[in-house]
Amino acid sequence: MIMISRRTALFSTLALASVATTGAWADGLPKLAVKKTYKVGFAQTESNNPWRLAQTASMKAEAEKLGWQLVYTDAAGSAAKQVADVNSMIAQGVDAIFLSPREEKPLIPAVMAAKKAGIPLFLIDRGVDATLAKAGVDYVTFIGSDFLLEGKTTAEWLVKATGGKGTIIELEGSTGSSPANDRKKGFDDVIAQNPGMKIVASQTGDFNRDKGRQVAEALLQAHPEANILFAHNDEMAIGAISAIEAAGKVPGKDILIVSIDGEKDGLQAVIDGKMGVTVECNPKFGPAAYAAAMAYAKGDAIPAKMVNTDRVFDITNAAASIADSY
Ligand code: AHR
Repeated sequence: MIMISRRTALFSTLALASVATTGAWADGLPKLAVKKTYKVGFAQTESNNPWRLAQTASMKAEAEKLGWQLVYTDAAGSAAKQVADVNSMIAQGVDAIFLSPREEKPLIPAVMAAKKAGIPLFLIDRGVDATLAKAGVDYVTFIGSDFLLEGKTTAEWLVKATGGKGTIIELEGSTGSSPANDRKKGFDDVIAQNPGMKIVASQTGDFNRDKGRQVAEALLQAHPEANILFAHNDEMAIGAISAIEAAGKVPGKDILIVSIDGEKDGLQAVIDGKMGVTVECNPKFGPAAYAAAMAYAKGDAIPAKMVNTDRVFDITNAAASIADSY
């Protein structure tokens, strides 16, 4: 009885013709019916770097391989647009939504709107504020990297390479995003345990190559004593390399650069000796994301988190890994 009344209410408020076929509506999390093919939405956060392009390519290629219809949106770096994109997917009657939330808090309304519409939502790549929305209750699961571990691993590599000595500039990712929050915490916590190391400046470069270059330029001028730069992604690290070279310094010699992602340009910088390490953050979510949806439809138990295993790329393996990069 509860099931029927909820379906009726949902149907009348949102007028979604596909609600009845989207899956059985039970208390709590929306379900997904087992079907031969699905119409799914992928809400991308922005498309201004190789990581994002590789993620989108993977989501599109896997949908095509499975014969699924994909409704793709690009929020162009705007959390407000991404919320509107998810609402548009709901209005189009998608069966499931895959969301890479730009920021942790502003995307909560999108998660809750999908739940209210009876559409299961999967968070891929980035997370939302865990105090405001919960896996298994408000959305199905989170599939992605352990950003805290990425920051920690980068710092541990650095401590080993420097003997625990150095003056650090940090370029943070997009403010309010889960990778920026967690990578900072993972990295800063390790550095705080090493009295010979100090973070003298930490500022956002918005995960963007040119912003990373500009912020690095200003911070290098303000802190000429810095001999280490940690960037939360390769794009900002590459921007920082340009800034360091423009300042007449030698990246990899005067300033040791460490980063995260493992994109092609990042691996090339490691091979060229300009960067010490890049800790992997794998963007190829297509197969895992859709497999999780199919497993969920079948009624398999889905863990609250499905965490990628990330590799560490330094001079010992960067050349062997570059062909598979993006
Ligand atoms: O959320 C993952 C991060 O977002 C990647 O490190 C970065 O390159 C991207 O924009």
